Amino acid sequence: MSTPVPELPPNAAPADILSIGIEAANGPVSLACSFSMEDVAIIDIAHKAGLDLGVFALDTGRLNEETYEVADALVERYRLKIDWYFPKHEAVEQLERTEGLFSFRGSLDKRHNCCGIRKVEPLSRALKGLKGWVTGMRREQSVTRGDLKAIERDELNGGILKINPLLDWSEEQLLSYIEEQHLPKNRLYSRGYRSIGCAPCTRAVQPGEDARAGRWWWENPENKECGLHRR
Ligand code: ADX
Ligand code: SF4
Repeated sequence: MSTPVPELPPNAAPADILSIGIEAANGPVSLACSFSMEDVAIIDIAHKAGLDLGVFALDTGRLNEETYEVADALVERYRLKIDWYFPKHEAVEQLERTEGLFSFRGSLDKRHNCCGIRKVEPLSRALKGLKGWVTGMRREQSVTRGDLKAIERDELNGGILKINPLLDWSEEQLLSYIEEQHLPKNRLYSRGYRSIGCAPCTRAVQPGEDARAGRWWWENPENKECGLHRR
């Protein structure tokens, strides 16, 4: 049976959203961690509040070195245990042998195929046995995220809870938190990146551009989801 979505008080802080969500899930809950500023802030908030939150990461095989450096810094700082998930090697071998190393630039279908193999299928394994998962998504990140809820039922993943504690934070609030708490920050942010995914599908953005303009920059803004957050 799927878990009922709990009520939240108005203007609930991220720590409250997390603790109410974790309690309501009534079982294991993990953060999906891409080592973004959002995810690092969530790890810190959960740590300070003493919450029982697991952490898993999807290693697509195409992440930036700078991203692994953040992971390593977090392990060091919090003695963090990260549950890494890799894509199925047969599927990646088949993809690279038949379509080459940059197939995702060919069409939206080809891009979705790569994200399906490297992210979505491993996510389905990562979510097995969980009663809830936490993400660092924020409403202002993109046109595709405006109607997110702080806690929702994830019908496409077995009805478990999906908790988005930083939903209403602005990029400025997030940056201040990272600076004030002296948290590890991906070095790519200081090179103009504002959203970080796989290396070949992410680039820095120009001043005035959307935060996610550097993700799959050759596609339309309404397509900029990789399938992890289908609703
Ligand atoms: S994406 O779906 O377009 O890649 P984005 O990079 O904005 O998403 O990240 C949104 C949230 O999705 C992150 O805060 C994190 O919770 C989750 N996420 C994204 N990529 C990964 C990954 N490689 N491993 C684990 N979680 C991820
Ligand atoms: Fe493949 Fe790019 Fe998707 Fe990463 S973001 S899984 S490299 S298409």
